[in-house]
Amino acid sequence: MKRILFVCLGNICRSPTAHGVMLKKIEELGLNWIHVDSAGTAAYHIGKAPDPRTLAEASKAGYDLSRLTARQVEESDFYEYDYIFAMDSENFRNLKAMRPSGSTAALHLALEFTDVDDTDVPDPYYGGASGFRDVLNLCEMLCDDILKMISEGNTCA
Ligand code: 4NP
Repeated sequence: MKRILFVCLGNICRSPTAHGVMLKKIEELGLNWIHVDSAGTAAYHIGKAPDPRTLAEASKAGYDLSRLTARQVEESDFYEYDYIFAMDSENFRNLKAMRPSGSTAALHLALEFTDVDDTDVPDPYYGGASGFRDVLNLCEMLCDDILKMISEGNTCA
């Protein structure tokens, strides 16, 4: 079993999108040895459903995120997950700072395994619908490349 966790700031836009896209790919490809979850570094939206704009874009593309609820990253995540993927460099820095010494999760940027020449899935929260579309497109890409990396057992540290 490999356990992967996507992390953004609020866990209502970017990481639930990656979570929902990954769930569907896991199901379609029969990769039931992979478990996926998502969380936020901030506490603002704990217990809430994804942002309505996130739900709308995902639904248009055939992903159902309606059962996801936001939670905050916990120390235990650094022991319970094999991979933690930060959706941008700011969250990556915050995760690195809170990572308990001796914990076992590999911490990466979510775009690290793609050909995208950027570190960040841009935060769409204060922008328009096109930002949410961009998040979805990037998540489809990064999920494919993360699955390839995990299937090949290559962490590209
Ligand atoms: P996310 O987006 O980190 O992709 O879930 C955001 C959600 C909420 C806020 C910022 C970004 N906020 O400021 O409440």
